[in-house]
Amino acid sequence: MRMWLGWLLAGWMSFGVAAGAQDYGDTPYVPTPQVVVDRMLETAKVTKRDFVIDLGSGDGRMIITAAQRFGARGFGVDLNRNLVQTANRNAAKAGVANRAVFYEQDLHETDLSKADVLSLYLLPEVNLMIRSRILALRPGTRLVSHDYGFGEWPPDIEFIMDAPGKKVGRDEKSKVLFYVVPAQVAGKWVWSAPGGTYDLELDQVFQKISGTLGVNGRRANIDKAQLSGEQIRFEAVVGETRYEFIGKVTNNAINGEMRVAGAAHAWDATRTMLREARFHDLKPGVMAR
Ligand SMILES: C[S@@+](CC[C@H](N)C(=O)[O-])C[C@H]1O[C@@H](n2cnc3c(N)ncnc32)[C@H](O)[C@@H]1O
Repeated sequence: MRMWLGWLLAGWMSFGVAAGAQDYGDTPYVPTPQVVVDRMLETAKVTKRDFVIDLGSGDGRMIITAAQRFGARGFGVDLNRNLVQTANRNAAKAGVANRAVFYEQDLHETDLSKADVLSLYLLPEVNLMIRSRILALRPGTRLVSHDYGFGEWPPDIEFIMDAPGKKVGRDEKSKVLFYVVPAQVAGKWVWSAPGGTYDLELDQVFQKISGTLGVNGRRANIDKAQLSGEQIRFEAVVGETRYEFIGKVTNNAINGEMRVAGAAHAWDATRTMLREARFHDLKPGVMAR
C-alpha cells in the first residue's frame, strides 16, 4: 500500500510541475475522475438538504455534480482564477449556477461553518494543516476526501476503486475516505434512572471511545461503543445485567434511551467533568496515509 501511495504522490508531483500548477497554492491541479466524484458524493450520502463545500474546487465538478445529481447547494474555492472562471462557466452550462458557485479564495481563509459536507482532494500535509479546523466544526459534519487521509484520524469508511482516466499514479486507482466530525464526549457523565444511579467515564481519541459504566457503585468496561457525529451508543455488563445505551450528545447533555435487561427507559445524562478528547497525532509529522 505504501508503495502504491508513493507512486501516486511521485506521479502527482511531476504532473503538477509539468502543468505549472504549483504556482497556485499548496496542491497542484489534478481533476478527480467523474466516476470517483460520483462515488465520493454517494459515500457522503449527499441530498438536496445539504450544503457542500469543496476546498480547492478545480473545474467545479464536485459541487456541480452535487447540485445536478443530488440537488444540493454549495460553493467551491480555488486560488487559480482561470479554474474559478471555468467552474462558474461549467455551473452555468449545467444549469445549476444558482446552487453551485465558485470563489477565488484561499481555502485556509474560507469559512467552513455552513458545510454539511466538505469534499477535498488535497495533499496529505495540507489535510493535516486544516484538520483541527475541521474537527472544530459542528458534530455530524461529513467529510469526503480523495486519495489522502488526516494522519491518525481513522476514516469511518475507506475503499479503493477503479479511476479510469486518472491523471496521476500508474494504476488508475483512487482511494475514497469518509469521516464524520465527532462530538466531544470525553469526561464524566451522571444520571439516575430506575434501578439506581449511574455514571460513565469516557476517553476519546478522534471518534473512538472507551471507558467504564458505574451502576450503584459497581463498574465494568463498556463495549460495542460507537460515536458517529452526535450519535453515541454502547453496551456494558455490570454484575449479571446487560445495559444498552443509545443517545444524542448536545454539548454537556446526552438524551436517548437505555435498555436494562430488555426494558426501555429514558436516558438523560449530564456531564459533570470535561476531559480533553485526543484530536491530534501521537507522532506528529508522520505522513498521512
Ligand atoms: C487536486 S486539485 C482538486 C480539484 C477538484 N477538487 C477535483 O477534485 O477535481 C486541488 C486544487 O486545489 C487548489 N488549491 C491548492 N491550494 C489551494 C489553496 N490554498 N486555496 C484554494 N485552492 C487551492 C488547486 O488550484 C487545485 O485546483
